[in-house]
Amino acid sequence: MKKLALVTGSNGGIGSAITEKLVEQGYRVIAAYLTGELSIAEKWFEEKNFTSDSVRLFELDVTNTEQCAKRLHALLEEEGTVDVLVNNAGITRDGQFKKMTAENWHAVINTNLNSLFNVTQPLFAAMCEKGHCRVINISSVNGLKGQFGQTNYSAAKAGVIGFTKALAFEGAKSGVTANVVAPGYTGTPMVEAMREDVIESIKSEIPMKRLATPAEIAGAVAYLASENGAYVTGETLSINGGLYMK
Ligand code: CAA
Ligand code: NAP
Repeated sequence: MKKLALVTGSNGGIGSAITEKLVEQGYRVIAAYLTGELSIAEKWFEEKNFTSDSVRLFELDVTNTEQCAKRLHALLEEEGTVDVLVNNAGITRDGQFKKMTAENWHAVINTNLNSLFNVTQPLFAAMCEKGHCRVINISSVNGLKGQFGQTNYSAAKAGVIGFTKALAFEGAKSGVTANVVAPGYTGTPMVEAMREDVIESIKSEIPMKRLATPAEIAGAVAYLASENGAYVTGETLSINGGLYMK
């Protein structure tokens, strides 16, 4: 029997690399894509040459508490306990705080932070019952250091870290670990959406003078998911080319 992983935002830049890496390592991956985006997810599935044995497309809007509870409880019945949960889905709605709308505040908190309740809560009890499972949450360098124009995003991503540390206490006695991967700026549609001059100025501040690749982030997730990561819990693994050393 293959181990089961669930990745949210699986067909985005980093989610796609995580899905590929876990498939390569022999997992069956439940590839959760945003509700209403089936045709995009199917195209991605074909482009990546996945098979239905190793990847199952699974519609999930991580902001929808009721839908997550209903669909994830049904998934448990159909597929069994999720061994590795990767909470990866996320958005940005950048803007200076003095001009920020309530809509942009709530959209980011809902997608990047409240999603952790929506997706993890229906799965966590079964993970603890089974033991030796993994919760891996994707935060950001900007949740650690803050960033101009990202009060919403930095608040949510810092919240991801607090959530993970608290959850780590609750899973520890069952051998269920909870950890954070905190990427720096990574070459994905999220960063490509930024103004060219802003990206260039950020790159110039990165000691390694380049963006991370999605595969570099996926490698960290695979480590935390693996047996080698069994005794790591409540930790934040930064992968940021030296952008923030503390
Ligand atoms: N520190 C201090 N001041 C800054 C600043 C910074 N980092 N960035 C901009 N400013 C200042 C500017 O100098 C300018 O000052 P003046 O008015 O005195 O000239 C003022 O703020 C306005 O700057 P902009 O012209 O950039 O303002 P804007 O309203 O057009 O844009 C913004 C605001 C959208 C926030 C834009 O600055 C921006 O995109 N910043 C980068 C935000 C960022 O890093 N987002 C990351 C997205 S990817 C991601 O989030 C992934 C991840 O986890 C890493
Ligand atoms: P991306 O390419 O934009 O991917 C984000 C994924 O999340 C997409 O698949 C998107 O679906 C999905 N998503 C958005 N809202 C959703 C919702 N309500 N329900 C379900 N799925 C939803 O961005 P990325 O760079 O890969 O980001 C992945 C994660 O890494 C995010 O949490 C991000 O904050 C974090 N991160 C990124 C960077 C970076 O520099 N790229 C750095 C640090 C941390 P659609 O495409 O269909 O909208």
